[in-house]
Amino acid sequence: MDDRAIGVFDSGFGGLTVARALIDLLPGEDIVYVADTGRYPYGPRPLDQVRTFAAQITTKLIDEHDVKLVVVACNTAAAAALDLLRFEHDTPLIGVIDPGVRAAVGATRNGRVGVIGTVGTIGSGAYQRAATAQRVPVQLTCAACPGFVEFVERGETRSDQVHVLAERLLAPVKAARVDTLLLGCTHYPFLARTIGDVMGRDVVLVSSADETAFEVRAILSETGLGRRSAGKGDHRWISSGDTETFRDLGQRLFGPEIDEVEGWDPT
Ligand code: DGL
Repeated sequence: MDDRAIGVFDSGFGGLTVARALIDLLPGEDIVYVADTGRYPYGPRPLDQVRTFAAQITTKLIDEHDVKLVVVACNTAAAAALDLLRFEHDTPLIGVIDPGVRAAVGATRNGRVGVIGTVGTIGSGAYQRAATAQRVPVQLTCAACPGFVEFVERGETRSDQVHVLAERLLAPVKAARVDTLLLGCTHYPFLARTIGDVMGRDVVLVSSADETAFEVRAILSETGLGRRSAGKGDHRWISSGDTETFRDLGQRLFGPEIDEVEGWDPT
C-alpha cells in the first residue's frame, strides 16, 4: 500500500475530464494536478517542444511532489512523449491514447471509428499506431480540430461560433459514416454537446477518461500501490498560468473542488 499522490497533467483544463473520472473511481486517492495553462495550447507546437514540456512536468511531479504514478492526461503530450517518459522514469506512466482506442473499439458496431484531436496528435499518427499495435479490427478516420481547445480555454463551449467551426472540422468524419467518434483530446468532452449536435444522435461519442481511470486502478492494484488510508483524498491544483483564471473557469467546468490554485513558473 502506498499513500503517495497520483500526478496528473495537461496543457490546461482538458485533463480535468480525466481527473473527474479518477476521483469518481478512486475517491480515496490524493491527486496533484498540473495545468500548463501558461504554455497552452500544445496542439499547434512542434512535438519536440511538447516533449520538453511533458518531461519537465513529469520530473516536477515525481521529484517535487513524490507522486507514485503519473497520468499524462493530454493526448498531444502522450503522443509526443509517453515512450520517452517511460524510458526515463521507473514510476508508472499512463497515457490516454491506448485507453481511448480500447473504449472506441468497445463502442463501435460498424467498425468505422472517427478520431478527432489536435494537429499535433493527429499529425503524429499515434492513434493509427495504437490501433495497429492493439490489432483492432476497425477503420479509423482521423481529423485535426484546430481551434477547439482555445474555445474550451475561454470557457466558450456552446457558442454559435464553436458550432460553425465544428460543422466544418467534423465534415470528414461525418462523410466517413463513422458510428463512433473518439474524442482524442481531453479538452473535447467539454464540447460534447456541440460535437454531438453536429454528428447526430446515431454517433456515439467516446472519451478516454473512464478507460484511463480503469487502467490506473488496475495498475495500482497489480503493483500494490493503492492508498491505505480510508477517507476522501486530497486534491491539489497547480497552474503555470493565471491562478485565478484557472480557479474560476475550473470551478465552472469541473466544480467547487477547485477552490485553491497554486502557481508554478516553469521558466
Ligand atoms: N488536452 C490536450 C490534448 O489532449 C490539448 C491540447 C492543447 O493544449 O492543444 O491533446
